Amino acid sequence: MQPAHPVCVGRLGYFKDAASIPEGVTHMKNKLLGLLIAPLALVAISATAQNHEAQTRVTAASCATCHGTGGVSTQGVFITLAGVDRAQLLEKLLAYKKGTLPATVMHQHAKGYSDDELARLADFFSRQKR
Ligand code: HEC
Repeated sequence: MQPAHPVCVGRLGYFKDAASIPEGVTHMKNKLLGLLIAPLALVAISATAQNHEAQTRVTAASCATCHGTGGVSTQGVFITLAGVDRAQLLEKLLAYKKGTLPATVMHQHAKGYSDDELARLADFFSRQKR
């Protein structure tokens, strides 16, 4: 038989075991937990956004060989991506990935990324100054 442990519900006090906690108290406990967890979830979301931004910058650096630093091409043969409309960039990247837009090299690059990663790249380059 399990020994009955007193159950702590924080500042509300101790109860002999979980079953003896009145329903109203568990309810309050859940509400309190919700209040505690909600800000943590927000922190987690913004940390993910920051990771994405950092990861996108690293990925974008690999595009720089051809499209220039920050997507500003200095070689006439390559296309400047900086400041181009986000939707337009994404449409092309997705088309390269699907193979519906003819390409010499871009279909290979685009296939290496998830649609979300391509969306973040499109967003990144659209935000760069020419
Ligand atoms: C090896 C050189 C090279 C690299 C690296 C490269 N690209 Fe490209 N990119 C090209 C070329 C060349 C084209 C023209 C299409 C083709 O022939 O593949 C192009 C076209 C594009 C276009 C379409 C531009 C337009 O307006 O038509 C986008 C968007 C693009 N690249 C994004 C990227 C992104 C994002 C990366 C990094 C993940 C990247 N490229 C890496 C060479 C490169």
